[in-house]
Amino acid sequence: MRIAIGSDHGGFELKEELKKFLKTEGYEVTDFGTNSSESVDYPYLTFNAAKSVANKENQFGIFICGSGVGASIVANKVHGIRAALCYNEEIARLSREHNNANFLCLGGRFLDKQEAFKIVNVWLKTSFSGGRHEKRVAQIEEIEKKN
Ligand code: RB5
Repeated sequence: MRIAIGSDHGGFELKEELKKFLKTEGYEVTDFGTNSSESVDYPYLTFNAAKSVANKENQFGIFICGSGVGASIVANKVHGIRAALCYNEEIARLSREHNNANFLCLGGRFLDKQEAFKIVNVWLKTSFSGGRHEKRVAQIEEIEKKN
């Protein structure tokens, strides 16, 4: 499975750790930056990672900024992206089962490495439930087309 990953300075260290973890788990990871802990603006970094998911170059995307909020705002502006800001495993699971989220946003300043790994793991391993949630996700796509 191909995964786009990215961060700003607020998530850089966690991104580097996560990259290693994902590779060990057998995922193919493309890193959209940033490449150091120096302060950098997250919007275009997030946009590039999200675009690669919308274009189907990658199946899923993960972006870590300080809080995860900025990244989720940006990613959700890209057509085809359903970004979820997840702070625990339960929300991560629900965002896949109910919302078919394809972009995970994390707050690098609010999660330790082990918590982040657990969230990512459950998020990547959970499938969309479909059923009653199908038409809700279809409505999201409908709304997207109206814009
Ligand atoms: C950067 O200081 C911080 O604002 C950014 O990482 C993110 O938390 C924005 O939502």
